[in-house]
Amino acid sequence: MIIFAVQFYKRKMLDKIKALHNEIDAAVASSIDEVDELRIKFISKKGSIGRLFADFKNIPAEQKKDVGQAINTLKNYALEKINLLKESFDASEIGESGLDLTMPGEPMKLGTRHPLALVKNEIIGIFARLGFTVAEGPEIEDDWHVFSALNFPPEHPARDMQDTFFIEKDPDVLLRTHTSSVQIRVMEQTAPPIRSIFPGRVFRNEAISARSHCIFHQIEGLYVDENVSFADLKQTLLQFSKELFGEETKIRLRPSYFPFTEPSAEMDVSCSICGGKGCNVCKYTGWLEILGCGMVDPNVLEGCNIDSKKYTGFAFGMGIERITMLRYGIKDIRHFFENDVRFLKQFESAT
Ligand code: PHE
Repeated sequence: MIIFAVQFYKRKMLDKIKALHNEIDAAVASSIDEVDELRIKFISKKGSIGRLFADFKNIPAEQKKDVGQAINTLKNYALEKINLLKESFDASEIGESGLDLTMPGEPMKLGTRHPLALVKNEIIGIFARLGFTVAEGPEIEDDWHVFSALNFPPEHPARDMQDTFFIEKDPDVLLRTHTSSVQIRVMEQTAPPIRSIFPGRVFRNEAISARSHCIFHQIEGLYVDENVSFADLKQTLLQFSKELFGEETKIRLRPSYFPFTEPSAEMDVSCSICGGKGCNVCKYTGWLEILGCGMVDPNVLEGCNIDSKKYTGFAFGMGIERITMLRYGIKDIRHFFENDVRFLKQFESAT
């Protein structure tokens, strides 16, 4: 008799569970609010499943396992069903507008600065602190600004120093071979004192190899005022070299020739890789050539209507590619122009 009573109790509970299962199975909702009502009806403490848990206390210990398992299964089933109903409403909201406003945004892909721009900006920063402003000139030039005004005489072999791209129809339209043309444009337009640098792209009709390219970049410097001396040039370049390559950097000036400066020099810096001891980058000399410079030729000043008795000046010009290759250990100049993202993304991000 007792056994029968126990069995009866368990049977009753299991029947209730089965009926509830069917009820949950058949449940439908036509809005998200109705889904919430179903949740309260079935799952909340006072809901049908909550009440089953209350009844559960009265079940004899040896029957608890089966009934307990059945109630838990039912509860999980109810949770799943409610979630499914909820999702169906979320999804139908996307359907109406065609947009899922809950989706995470596309991450913003940050670019990186081109290594030439990084070095150019660094050089501009150093000269800005020395009081130089920045100016630019056109890439498509005429003979006067690139050659004649810079003291390159017509038919003189000095013109062959730089292989020029000309426009076939008009030999007076050409791509500038150096940024020295901007010296002329600035001196024609501004009265001294002038203290500026001119960064820009230049072009030479040269075969492309790992060491040279037909397109490259220069930074030109020009300082014209009363009493500007070669000592000023040397001190300015020493300060610049120390800031760019490190405090321990030394410079040396070797006599050279440019038609627009007199005297002219080429400047070497002590090799920043081996510290001047000699390595394969400096070809075991301990020195690296990085720029050309000199005192502005009085003829050039006069050609721009600047009184060469009153004013003197110095000028210098350097290649940005060469300095960037030294700075980052880049072995092939062609990397700068191929725009391979695997190369470009190794540099500082543009923030
Ligand atoms: N324009 C020269 C070159 O391209 C460099 C230079 C600039 C030399 C200014 C002297 C003064 O090689």
